[in-house]
Amino acid sequence: MAAPKHFLQLNDLSRDELEHVFARTRWIKDQFKRYQPYHPMFDRTLVMIFEKQSTRTRLSFEAGMHQLGGSAIFLSTRDSQLGRGEPVEDAAQVISRMCDLVMIRTFEQDIIDRFARHSRVPVINGLTNEYHPCQILADIYTFIEHRGSIAGRTVAWVGDSNNVCNTWLQAAEVFGFNVHVSTPPGYEIEPERAGLYGDDHYEEFADPMDAVRDADLVTTDVWTSMGFEAENEERRRDFEDWQVDAEMMRLAKPDALFMHCLPAHRGEEVATEVIDGLQSVVWDEAENRLHTQKALMEYLLLGRVNP
Ligand code: CP
Ligand code: NVA
Repeated sequence: MAAPKHFLQLNDLSRDELEHVFARTRWIKDQFKRYQPYHPMFDRTLVMIFEKQSTRTRLSFEAGMHQLGGSAIFLSTRDSQLGRGEPVEDAAQVISRMCDLVMIRTFEQDIIDRFARHSRVPVINGLTNEYHPCQILADIYTFIEHRGSIAGRTVAWVGDSNNVCNTWLQAAEVFGFNVHVSTPPGYEIEPERAGLYGDDHYEEFADPMDAVRDADLVTTDVWTSMGFEAENEERRRDFEDWQVDAEMMRLAKPDALFMHCLPAHRGEEVATEVIDGLQSVVWDEAENRLHTQKALMEYLLLGRVNP
């Protein structure tokens, strides 16, 4: 049996493969908007395993699989034997014999890597402590829709060097753009944890105002990610000066976009006037989770359809 193709980190797919996924996204989204049925996944089953909470990821995968003609099953740690310590390798063997595709949201990347090694079917990372590749797939697609190619552009990341930040850094290497990162002291990026090949595609700035200067896109995320709640109070203090506000946005290019993977905390990592302002594309970004993931599932299961 040929080894399945997984999507555990963004750079598991080449630029050419990701561009194919974007081309398919355009077509799939257009069909959806015109109420044209497209059911290539008839009789196929997606299993979604959630060890952390979710609104967008669950909804976009579940709705997406139904719209493609297949079905989706939701498993959570609380209701499955995973929560009672069944080894992830055993779970992978069993689950992957009963379905065609698995999506997992969990804690350490090691958990999903181990699952994938024992899975007969493709595994998709729906967020780990280290990465959130499906999010950046949607974000880059959204950028392209609004502004064209992202190659050679500057993305400013303001805030925590978390899973979403790491994935932007990987994406910069794959697509050839630059990330200007500003994190508070003590929260700097860890290139090895981010899975980077080098340091050519990012630059670190002590002052967030310097990071956003002339950026094409300004983006941020919560100060405290899921699993780090115990650090909440300390982080609130440490990140105080890393809020994306209107003054910061004025330093970016006049047509710069603002993105946030959501859920957002207005008044913490982003000011209301920015997330609800004219440069914000957060609702398109959230919607594009649906379309890009449908194209991703099609590619992992069916290969290059209608190239
Ligand atoms: N952005 C994102 O992954 O949202 P959820 O946590 O709601 O899935
Ligand atoms: N960095 C956030 C993203 C949520 C979608 C978290 O991991 O909680």
